[in-house]
Amino acid sequence: MSLLKELQQLQNTARVELAEVRTGDDLEAWRIRYIGSKGAVKDAMDRLKQLPKEEKPAAGKAANLLKKALQTTYDARLGEVSTTKSAGPAIDVTLPGEKPRIGHLHVITQTVNDICEIFGRMGFVVATGPEVEDEHHNFEALNIPASHPARDPLDNFYIDDTTMLRSQTSTVQIRYMESHEPPVRIISPGRVYRPDTVDATHYFMFNQVEGLYVDQGVTMADLKTTVDQFCKAYFGSDVNTRFRPSFFPFTEPSAEVDLEFHNEDGSTYWVELGGCGMVDPNVLEAVGYDNEKYTGFAFGLGIERMVMRKYNIPDIRLLFESDTRFLHQF
Ligand code: DAH
Repeated sequence: MSLLKELQQLQNTARVELAEVRTGDDLEAWRIRYIGSKGAVKDAMDRLKQLPKEEKPAAGKAANLLKKALQTTYDARLGEVSTTKSAGPAIDVTLPGEKPRIGHLHVITQTVNDICEIFGRMGFVVATGPEVEDEHHNFEALNIPASHPARDPLDNFYIDDTTMLRSQTSTVQIRYMESHEPPVRIISPGRVYRPDTVDATHYFMFNQVEGLYVDQGVTMADLKTTVDQFCKAYFGSDVNTRFRPSFFPFTEPSAEVDLEFHNEDGSTYWVELGGCGMVDPNVLEAVGYDNEKYTGFAFGLGIERMVMRKYNIPDIRLLFESDTRFLHQF
Protein backbone atom coordinates (compact mmCIF):
# COMPACT_ATOMS: atom_id res chain seq x y z
CA MET A 1 0.00 0.00 0.00
CA SER A 2 1.33 3.41 -0.84
CA LEU A 3 2.16 5.72 2.00
CA LEU A 4 -0.45 8.16 0.76
CA LYS A 5 -3.16 5.52 1.06
CA GLU A 6 -1.84 4.53 4.46
CA LEU A 7 -2.06 8.11 5.63
CA GLN A 8 -5.62 8.29 4.40
CA GLN A 9 -6.55 5.16 6.34
CA LEU A 10 -4.73 6.36 9.41
CA GLN A 11 -6.76 9.54 9.36
CA ASN A 12 -10.01 7.62 9.10
CA THR A 13 -9.40 5.21 11.97
CA ALA A 14 -7.96 7.97 14.14
CA ARG A 15 -11.11 10.07 13.60
CA VAL A 16 -13.44 7.18 14.35
CA GLU A 17 -11.59 6.30 17.53
CA LEU A 18 -11.42 9.91 18.66
CA ALA A 19 -15.18 10.23 18.30
CA GLU A 20 -15.63 7.28 20.67
CA VAL A 21 -13.39 8.68 23.38
CA ARG A 22 -15.36 9.46 26.55
CA THR A 23 -12.85 9.95 29.30
CA GLY A 24 -9.72 11.99 29.80
CA ASP A 25 -7.67 8.78 30.13
CA ASP A 26 -8.92 7.43 26.81
CA LEU A 27 -8.17 10.73 25.15
CA GLU A 28 -4.63 10.72 26.44
CA ALA A 29 -4.15 7.16 25.19
CA TRP A 30 -5.41 8.27 21.77
CA ARG A 31 -3.01 11.19 21.71
CA ILE A 32 -0.04 8.97 22.48
CA ARG A 33 -1.14 6.42 19.90
CA TYR A 34 -1.55 8.87 17.01
CA ILE A 35 0.13 12.22 17.54
CA GLY A 36 2.54 11.46 20.37
CA SER A 37 6.30 11.56 19.81
CA LYS A 38 6.29 7.82 19.11
CA GLY A 39 2.83 7.73 17.57
CA ALA A 40 1.56 6.64 14.17
CA VAL A 41 1.97 10.06 12.52
CA LYS A 42 5.57 10.31 13.66
CA ASP A 43 6.16 6.82 12.32
CA ALA A 44 4.74 7.82 8.94
CA MET A 45 6.94 10.90 8.87
CA ASP A 46 9.98 8.74 9.51
CA ARG A 47 9.06 6.47 6.66
CA LEU A 48 8.83 9.46 4.29
CA LYS A 49 12.60 9.47 4.14
CA GLN A 50 12.68 6.11 2.45
CA LEU A 51 10.34 7.13 -0.40
CA PRO A 52 11.64 7.72 -3.94
CA LYS A 53 12.46 11.37 -4.46
CA GLU A 54 9.53 12.14 -6.77
CA GLU A 55 6.95 10.85 -4.30
CA LYS A 56 8.33 12.74 -1.30
CA PRO A 57 6.71 16.19 -1.84
CA ALA A 58 3.13 14.91 -2.17
CA ALA A 59 3.45 12.41 0.64
CA GLY A 60 5.21 14.96 2.86
CA LYS A 61 2.45 17.44 2.31
CA ALA A 62 -0.22 14.86 3.04
CA ALA A 63 1.55 13.81 6.23
CA ASN A 64 1.76 17.40 7.44
CA LEU A 65 -1.90 17.99 6.69
CA LEU A 66 -2.82 14.81 8.55
CA LYS A 67 -0.79 15.88 11.55
CA LYS A 68 -2.46 19.27 11.66
CA ALA A 69 -5.94 17.86 11.16
CA LEU A 70 -5.53 15.31 13.94
CA GLN A 71 -4.07 17.92 16.25
CA THR A 72 -7.05 20.23 15.60
CA THR A 73 -9.70 17.57 16.24
CA TYR A 74 -7.75 16.45 19.30
CA ASP A 75 -7.77 20.01 20.69
CA ALA A 76 -11.53 20.23 20.20
CA ARG A 77 -12.13 16.92 21.97
CA LEU A 78 -9.82 17.93 24.78
CA GLY A 79 -12.13 20.82 25.58
CA GLU A 80 -15.20 18.59 25.62
CA VAL A 81 -13.79 15.61 27.48
CA SER A 82 -12.03 17.55 30.19
CA THR A 83 -15.15 19.69 30.84
CA THR A 84 -17.22 16.55 31.24
CA LYS A 85 -14.72 15.17 33.68
CA SER A 86 -14.38 18.17 35.96
CA ALA A 87 -17.93 19.55 36.01
CA GLY A 88 -20.10 16.42 35.67
CA PRO A 89 -23.15 16.38 33.42
CA ALA A 90 -24.34 19.75 32.24
CA ILE A 91 -27.09 21.26 34.39
CA ASP A 92 -30.40 21.98 32.72
CA VAL A 93 -31.52 25.08 34.54
CA THR A 94 -34.97 24.94 32.94
CA LEU A 95 -35.92 21.67 34.68
CA PRO A 96 -38.49 22.06 37.48
CA GLY A 97 -36.83 21.93 40.90
CA GLU A 98 -36.90 18.91 43.17
CA LYS A 99 -38.95 19.52 46.32
CA PRO A 100 -36.58 19.22 49.24
CA ARG A 101 -37.61 16.51 51.67
CA ILE A 102 -38.07 18.21 54.99
CA GLY A 103 -39.27 16.52 58.15
CA HIS A 104 -42.71 17.04 59.59
CA LEU A 105 -44.75 16.05 62.62
CA HIS A 106 -45.83 12.41 62.89
CA VAL A 107 -49.52 11.89 62.14
CA ILE A 108 -50.15 10.94 65.79
CA THR A 109 -48.57 14.19 66.96
CA GLN A 110 -50.58 16.14 64.40
CA THR A 111 -53.73 14.46 65.71
CA VAL A 112 -52.86 15.18 69.34
CA ASN A 113 -52.41 18.82 68.38
CA ASP A 114 -55.81 18.82 66.63
CA ILE A 115 -57.46 17.22 69.66
CA CYS A 116 -55.93 19.76 72.03
CA GLU A 117 -57.07 22.57 69.78
CA ILE A 118 -60.70 21.34 69.59
CA PHE A 119 -61.00 20.75 73.33
CA GLY A 120 -59.17 24.00 73.95
CA ARG A 121 -62.03 25.82 72.25
CA MET A 122 -64.37 24.14 74.76
CA GLY A 123 -62.33 25.40 77.70
CA PHE A 124 -60.24 22.30 78.45
CA VAL A 125 -56.59 22.78 79.39
CA VAL A 126 -53.92 20.18 78.69
CA ALA A 127 -52.45 18.26 81.64
CA THR A 128 -49.76 15.60 81.55
CA GLY A 129 -48.54 12.84 83.82
CA PRO A 130 -45.69 10.31 83.97
CA GLU A 131 -45.66 7.15 81.87
CA VAL A 132 -43.93 5.28 84.69
CA GLU A 133 -46.61 5.15 87.36
CA ASP A 134 -47.39 3.65 90.76
CA GLU A 135 -50.30 1.33 91.44
CA HIS A 136 -51.99 4.01 93.49
CA HIS A 137 -52.54 6.32 90.51
CA ASN A 138 -53.04 3.59 87.92
CA PHE A 139 -55.47 1.52 90.02
CA GLU A 140 -56.24 2.20 93.69
CA ALA A 141 -57.33 5.83 93.50
CA LEU A 142 -59.38 4.91 90.42
CA ASN A 143 -61.45 2.51 92.50
CA ILE A 144 -59.74 -0.57 91.03
CA PRO A 145 -59.07 -2.89 94.02
CA ALA A 146 -56.15 -5.37 94.19
CA SER A 147 -58.50 -8.25 93.34
CA HIS A 148 -59.63 -6.68 90.06
CA PRO A 149 -58.67 -8.68 86.95
CA ALA A 150 -57.28 -5.53 85.27
CA ARG A 151 -54.42 -5.66 87.79
CA ASP A 152 -53.19 -9.07 86.68
CA PRO A 153 -49.38 -8.84 86.32
CA LEU A 154 -49.71 -10.58 82.97
CA ASP A 155 -51.92 -7.77 81.67
CA ASN A 156 -49.56 -4.96 82.69
CA PHE A 157 -45.92 -3.97 82.32
CA TYR A 158 -44.71 -4.00 85.92
CA ILE A 159 -41.28 -2.60 86.64
CA ASP A 160 -41.25 -3.75 90.25
CA ASP A 161 -43.94 -4.77 92.77
CA THR A 162 -45.62 -1.37 92.85
CA THR A 163 -44.30 0.48 89.78
CA MET A 164 -45.51 0.01 86.23
CA LEU A 165 -45.88 1.57 82.82
CA ARG A 166 -49.29 3.20 83.00
CA SER A 167 -52.02 1.18 81.30
CA GLN A 168 -54.38 4.15 80.94
CA THR A 169 -54.27 7.95 80.96
CA SER A 170 -56.92 7.95 83.73
CA THR A 171 -53.91 8.23 86.06
CA VAL A 172 -53.72 11.93 85.15
CA GLN A 173 -57.25 12.52 86.49
CA ILE A 174 -55.97 11.54 89.92
CA ARG A 175 -52.68 13.43 89.68
CA TYR A 176 -54.42 16.60 88.52
CA MET A 177 -57.18 16.50 91.15
CA GLU A 178 -54.62 15.82 93.89
CA SER A 179 -52.92 19.11 93.07
CA HIS A 180 -55.86 21.28 91.97
CA GLU A 181 -59.10 22.35 93.59
CA PRO A 182 -62.34 22.10 91.60
CA PRO A 183 -63.56 23.22 89.15
CA VAL A 184 -61.22 21.29 86.83
CA ARG A 185 -61.57 20.89 83.10
CA ILE A 186 -58.63 19.04 81.54
CA ILE A 187 -57.69 16.74 78.75
CA SER A 188 -54.57 14.59 78.88
CA PRO A 189 -53.23 12.95 75.75
CA GLY A 190 -50.41 10.44 76.06
CA ARG A 191 -48.94 7.00 75.64
CA VAL A 192 -50.16 3.96 77.55
CA TYR A 193 -48.76 0.41 77.63
CA ARG A 194 -50.32 -3.04 77.68
CA PRO A 195 -48.74 -6.41 76.84
CA ASP A 196 -51.24 -7.17 74.09
CA THR A 197 -50.34 -9.54 71.26
CA VAL A 198 -49.48 -7.32 68.32
CA ASP A 199 -51.76 -7.52 65.30
CA ALA A 200 -53.47 -5.14 62.87
CA THR A 201 -55.51 -3.51 65.65
CA HIS A 202 -53.37 -4.08 68.76
CA TYR A 203 -49.99 -2.80 69.81
CA PHE A 204 -48.18 -2.93 73.14
CA MET A 205 -48.15 0.87 73.26
CA PHE A 206 -50.79 3.28 72.08
CA ASN A 207 -52.19 6.73 72.78
CA GLN A 208 -55.27 7.83 74.65
CA VAL A 209 -56.79 11.17 75.38
CA GLU A 210 -58.32 11.45 78.81
CA GLY A 211 -60.90 14.10 79.65
CA LEU A 212 -62.12 15.24 83.05
CA TYR A 213 -64.59 17.90 84.02
CA VAL A 214 -65.51 18.35 87.69
CA ASP A 215 -67.67 21.18 88.98
CA GLN A 216 -70.97 21.75 90.70
CA GLY A 217 -73.90 20.47 88.68
CA VAL A 218 -72.01 18.59 85.94
CA THR A 219 -74.34 16.02 84.37
CA MET A 220 -74.37 13.15 81.89
CA ALA A 221 -75.91 15.55 79.36
CA ASP A 222 -72.74 17.68 79.55
CA LEU A 223 -70.67 14.55 78.91
CA LYS A 224 -72.69 13.49 75.89
CA THR A 225 -72.69 16.97 74.39
CA THR A 226 -68.95 17.43 74.89
CA VAL A 227 -67.98 14.07 73.36
CA ASP A 228 -70.49 14.46 70.51
CA GLN A 229 -69.26 17.98 69.72
CA PHE A 230 -65.67 16.82 69.74
CA CYS A 231 -66.39 13.93 67.37
CA LYS A 232 -68.25 16.18 64.96
CA ALA A 233 -65.43 18.73 65.03
CA TYR A 234 -62.78 16.07 64.42
CA PHE A 235 -64.53 13.73 61.97
CA GLY A 236 -67.10 15.98 60.37
CA SER A 237 -70.60 17.07 61.25
CA ASP A 238 -72.26 14.05 59.60
CA VAL A 239 -70.83 11.66 62.18
CA ASN A 240 -73.20 10.33 64.85
CA THR A 241 -72.31 9.21 68.36
CA ARG A 242 -73.93 6.56 70.51
CA PHE A 243 -73.47 5.92 74.23
CA ARG A 244 -73.72 2.25 75.15
CA PRO A 245 -74.13 1.32 78.85
CA SER A 246 -70.94 -0.25 80.16
CA PHE A 247 -68.87 -0.58 83.30
CA PHE A 248 -65.68 1.07 84.53
CA PRO A 249 -64.66 1.04 88.20
CA PHE A 250 -63.99 4.79 88.22
CA THR A 251 -67.28 5.95 86.67
CA GLU A 252 -70.93 5.42 87.60
CA PRO A 253 -72.86 5.28 85.37
CA SER A 254 -70.42 4.26 82.62
CA ALA A 255 -70.78 4.09 78.88
CA GLU A 256 -68.86 3.23 75.77
CA VAL A 257 -68.77 5.78 72.95
CA ASP A 258 -69.44 4.49 69.44
CA LEU A 259 -69.18 6.45 66.20
CA GLU A 260 -71.38 5.87 63.20
CA PHE A 261 -69.69 6.07 59.80
CA HIS A 262 -71.23 5.88 56.37
CA ASN A 263 -70.36 3.29 53.75
CA GLU A 264 -70.34 4.31 50.11
CA ASP A 265 -73.58 2.42 49.47
CA GLY A 266 -75.36 4.49 52.12
CA SER A 267 -75.31 1.83 54.87
CA THR A 268 -73.58 2.62 58.16
CA TYR A 269 -71.38 0.89 60.69
CA TRP A 270 -70.39 1.65 64.29
CA VAL A 271 -66.86 1.91 65.63
CA GLU A 272 -66.01 1.96 69.34
CA LEU A 273 -63.91 4.96 70.29
CA GLY A 274 -63.49 4.68 74.05
CA GLY A 275 -65.11 4.77 77.47
CA CYS A 276 -66.71 7.46 79.58
CA GLY A 277 -69.03 8.10 82.47
CA MET A 278 -69.79 10.15 85.55
CA VAL A 279 -66.82 10.19 87.95
CA ASP A 280 -67.49 7.69 90.73
CA PRO A 281 -67.94 9.44 94.11
CA ASN A 282 -65.25 7.12 95.52
CA VAL A 283 -62.72 8.64 93.10
CA LEU A 284 -63.65 12.19 94.14
CA GLU A 285 -63.29 11.14 97.76
CA ALA A 286 -59.87 9.54 97.10
CA VAL A 287 -58.50 12.92 96.02
CA GLY A 288 -60.18 14.82 98.86
CA TYR A 289 -63.01 16.44 96.87
CA ASP A 290 -66.40 16.97 98.49
CA ASN A 291 -68.47 14.42 96.59
CA GLU A 292 -71.69 15.86 97.99
CA LYS A 293 -70.93 19.19 96.39
CA TYR A 294 -69.18 18.22 93.15
CA THR A 295 -69.95 15.92 90.27
CA GLY A 296 -67.92 15.29 87.17
CA PHE A 297 -67.60 13.40 83.95
CA ALA A 298 -64.59 11.64 82.45
CA PHE A 299 -63.73 9.98 79.21
CA GLY A 300 -60.82 8.10 77.65
CA LEU A 301 -60.64 7.84 73.86
CA GLY A 302 -58.25 5.87 71.66
CA ILE A 303 -56.15 8.16 69.48
CA GLU A 304 -54.92 5.49 67.05
CA ARG A 305 -58.53 4.51 66.47
CA MET A 306 -59.33 8.08 65.50
CA VAL A 307 -56.34 8.35 63.19
CA MET A 308 -56.96 4.97 61.55
CA ARG A 309 -60.60 5.80 60.96
CA LYS A 310 -59.99 9.30 59.69
CA TYR A 311 -57.25 8.34 57.21
CA ASN A 312 -58.43 4.80 56.46
CA ILE A 313 -55.27 3.15 57.81
CA PRO A 314 -55.76 -0.62 57.90
CA ASP A 315 -52.97 -1.61 60.28
CA ILE A 316 -51.95 0.05 63.58
CA ARG A 317 -48.35 -1.11 63.12
CA LEU A 318 -47.90 1.34 60.26
CA LEU A 319 -48.16 4.11 62.84
CA PHE A 320 -45.12 2.88 64.75
CA GLU A 321 -42.80 1.41 62.15
CA SER A 322 -41.30 4.70 60.89
CA ASP A 323 -41.58 3.71 57.23
CA THR A 324 -41.08 7.02 55.47
CA ARG A 325 -43.17 5.87 52.47
CA PHE A 326 -46.09 5.78 54.89
CA LEU A 327 -45.17 8.83 56.96
CA HIS A 328 -44.70 11.13 53.96
CA GLN A 329 -48.38 10.80 53.17
CA PHE A 330 -49.47 12.93 56.13
N1 DAH B 1 -59.30 4.13 81.09
C1 DAH B 1 -60.26 3.39 80.28
C2 DAH B 1 -59.50 2.40 79.42
O1 DAH B 1 -58.32 2.57 79.20
C3 DAH B 1 -61.04 4.32 79.40
C4 DAH B 1 -61.96 5.19 80.17
C5 DAH B 1 -63.23 4.78 80.45
C6 DAH B 1 -61.53 6.42 80.65
C7 DAH B 1 -64.11 5.57 81.16
C8 DAH B 1 -62.40 7.24 81.38
C9 DAH B 1 -63.69 6.79 81.61
O2 DAH B 1 -62.04 8.42 81.83
O3 DAH B 1 -64.52 7.60 82.32
O4 DAH B 1 -60.06 1.46 78.95
